[in-house]
Amino acid sequence: MNLINISNLGSGMTLAQDIKDQHGRLLASCGQEITPKLIRIFKIWGIGKIRINESGGKESNIELPYNLPENILQKATDIVRHRFQYNDINDTFVYELFRISCLRKARNLFEVSEKNRLNDHFIPEIVPAQKVPNAGKQKMNVDHLIEKTLRLETIPDIYYKIIAAINNPEASLHDIAQIVNKDITLSAKVLQLVNSSFYSLRQKVDTLTWALALIGTNQLMNIVSGVSAVSLFKNIPSQLINMASFWEHSIACGTTARLLAGHCNRRVAAERFFVAGLLHDIGRLILIQNLPGPCLDLFQRARKEEIFLFVAETDKFNMDHSHIGAQMAFHWNLPETLVDMINDHHLPGREKAFFEASIINMSDIIVNALEIGNSGEFFVPVIEPRVCTELHLNKDMLQPLINQLENQLEDIFQIIYGIPE
Ligand SMILES: [Fe+2]
Ligand SMILES: [Fe+2]
Repeated sequence: MNLINISNLGSGMTLAQDIKDQHGRLLASCGQEITPKLIRIFKIWGIGKIRINESGGKESNIELPYNLPENILQKATDIVRHRFQYNDINDTFVYELFRISCLRKARNLFEVSEKNRLNDHFIPEIVPAQKVPNAGKQKMNVDHLIEKTLRLETIPDIYYKIIAAINNPEASLHDIAQIVNKDITLSAKVLQLVNSSFYSLRQKVDTLTWALALIGTNQLMNIVSGVSAVSLFKNIPSQLINMASFWEHSIACGTTARLLAGHCNRRVAAERFFVAGLLHDIGRLILIQNLPGPCLDLFQRARKEEIFLFVAETDKFNMDHSHIGAQMAFHWNLPETLVDMINDHHLPGREKAFFEASIINMSDIIVNALEIGNSGEFFVPVIEPRVCTELHLNKDMLQPLINQLENQLEDIFQIIYGIPE
């Protein structure tokens, strides 16, 4: 078996490994014959070297190196600089995030441009015309809307049954597992999550009782509340927001928050950070679900006037999505710190829960900068020095953190959100 540069590949050779892109999608299978078309695909995906099979053995994924053209890098830098316009890129930490974001953007632009150039049948994605009424400029009172939504959107009964069992000193882990087991989807998700890269356990866990013994009942509650919330809002039909992209942003924020909490040695409550990240923008779904017209106005106004969407929301509704989401979390009886994290994720200023809100604030910023999913905010929110100080952030921890995030994200996305039908 030889590792050779793709420029030296020739027909008659066969692959000694599966070739996957950075999302784990299979590009070519082990044993497949090398053809000129396959070599072209490798070039599109920036694959430099591959193993050629002499014995038919299998290898794991390879890293994808990218040699990016100068003009693509320049274009990416211009786009990312525009999105970072509210940040001071002379700061070393901000600059590192900016630099990584530029490279990531360039890689995405390169992949898209190469695919478009080589695929004769490429049809550009066309966003359908929006047919939602214009709401005008007047301010709106959204209290009634929040009340209405709070009445309608209730977390499933099983959540409260689990709380009751956890609070009952006579209930065993087995009893709690029995309750979770009644919801097949939920129990499957808990087991999948415990067996995923999220926990990186050495052994496979195949019973809920064992899973609970490992992760603890508090973590179970956090997972259950997160999974329940996603299922509640998963199928909102909307012309304004791509739900898979919304949840990708949210799940990435939760995953980053959990990693950051670990970085700050707050591993004990790490799942709480995950759920806060998962739910941090849920108020925006409530707004979009109930007020699509005014929300479309706000999306357009924020882009046109180059302001943050959450600022435009406050201007219109006298409150932004973070406060609406916090009210929802409060209504669901979620723990107080979780409510505070959602409430303060754009302005972590209160002494109360400052550390916790800072984690969600920074996770949201990182995910936004890297354009992992999208919850509607175009500009990268301001990175505040006091948040960096509170979390002991330095530029050298950023790339390893992002690597860990990318390693875990696809797994967790599949488990929490599932494959869109
Ligand atoms: Fe937000
Ligand atoms: Fe967000």
